[in-house]
Amino acid sequence: MSKLDAPTVALVGAGQMGGALVRGWIEAVRKGGGLTLTVLEPHFDKALERALENVGAVLNPPQKKPVDIVVLAVKPQMFKEAAESARAFVGPDTLVLSVMAGITLDSLTRLMGAGRVVRAMPNTPGAIGRGITAYVMSSVCGTNDRALVEQLLSPLGAVEPIASERLMDVVTAVSGSGPAYVFLLAEVLAIAGEQEGLDKETAARLATLTVAGAGALLLDGGEPPATLRKQVTSPGGTTQAALDVLQSAEGMAPVLRRAVAAAVRRARELGQENR
Ligand SMILES: NC(=O)c1ccc[n+]([C@@H]2O[C@H](COP(=O)([O-])OP(=O)(O)OC[C@H]3O[C@@H](n4cnc5c(N)ncnc54)[C@H](OP(=O)(O)O)[C@@H]3O)[C@@H](O)[C@H]2O)c1
Repeated sequence: MSKLDAPTVALVGAGQMGGALVRGWIEAVRKGGGLTLTVLEPHFDKALERALENVGAVLNPPQKKPVDIVVLAVKPQMFKEAAESARAFVGPDTLVLSVMAGITLDSLTRLMGAGRVVRAMPNTPGAIGRGITAYVMSSVCGTNDRALVEQLLSPLGAVEPIASERLMDVVTAVSGSGPAYVFLLAEVLAIAGEQEGLDKETAARLATLTVAGAGALLLDGGEPPATLRKQVTSPGGTTQAALDVLQSAEGMAPVLRRAVAAAVRRARELGQENR
């Protein structure tokens, strides 16, 4: 069987992100794939362990030997410590895939002793398979590496290749941190409704389901956001009155421009600290 049909994987850290990956891999095995998985994680979820065994994956084989791919999903500050135990699974043919924020391709190459390394940035909707994960590969990676990486990341949702590592800080600022901006929108929309007279619970429900429903429409409707916005905006109507404020010189565009620029700056600083 090829690496794609039945990869051997060592997963380092199986918390929120690592656990979401495992849940997706279980489904892939259920549909007929193969998987040999070693999990390095102090508190691996017993239910995931049972589910892996039930679908017929090989879990934690006794020998520590090089695998097809090592997936690093610990917090960035745990990377150096985790790298020590993970190196036993790295051989000359092993690909290393990290979903850790801010850890560079250069650090991955150096600390893991691997030639082919991949740096990915998922986001929190990935925990329910509705995220987007952007990734960049070291220049020596090939087409087979790309296929394996996309296959293993797909349980988190969409997967997007990025051409240059320099742009990963921008990815972090847009899609990595992005869910927080949308949650904030739901929070402040609720507060505005409350200030206009709705009770707290009703305002929260209206705002939350509006944000969630608009997101679902954006995803399923196949129309770009500007088209959907124009569809709810009649000239001289209520939406237009609100958009006149949101699209003014002090409106959403310049605020988000400043917010994204601040996140890019912080991602660059953190990248320097984690070198
Ligand atoms: N969650 C997100 O939305 C998101 C988005 C983008 C990127 N990421 C990246 O994804 C990575 C994982 O985030 P997460 O939210 O999944 O974190 P998490 O839930 O804390 O999971 C990390 C797991 O790694 C375990 N761990 C700690 N030290 C370890 C070691 N030396 N060896 C093996 N396992 C170890 C932790 O166990 P203990 O709890 O016992 O310490 C924990 O279960 C981070 O680097 C983060 O930057 C996350």
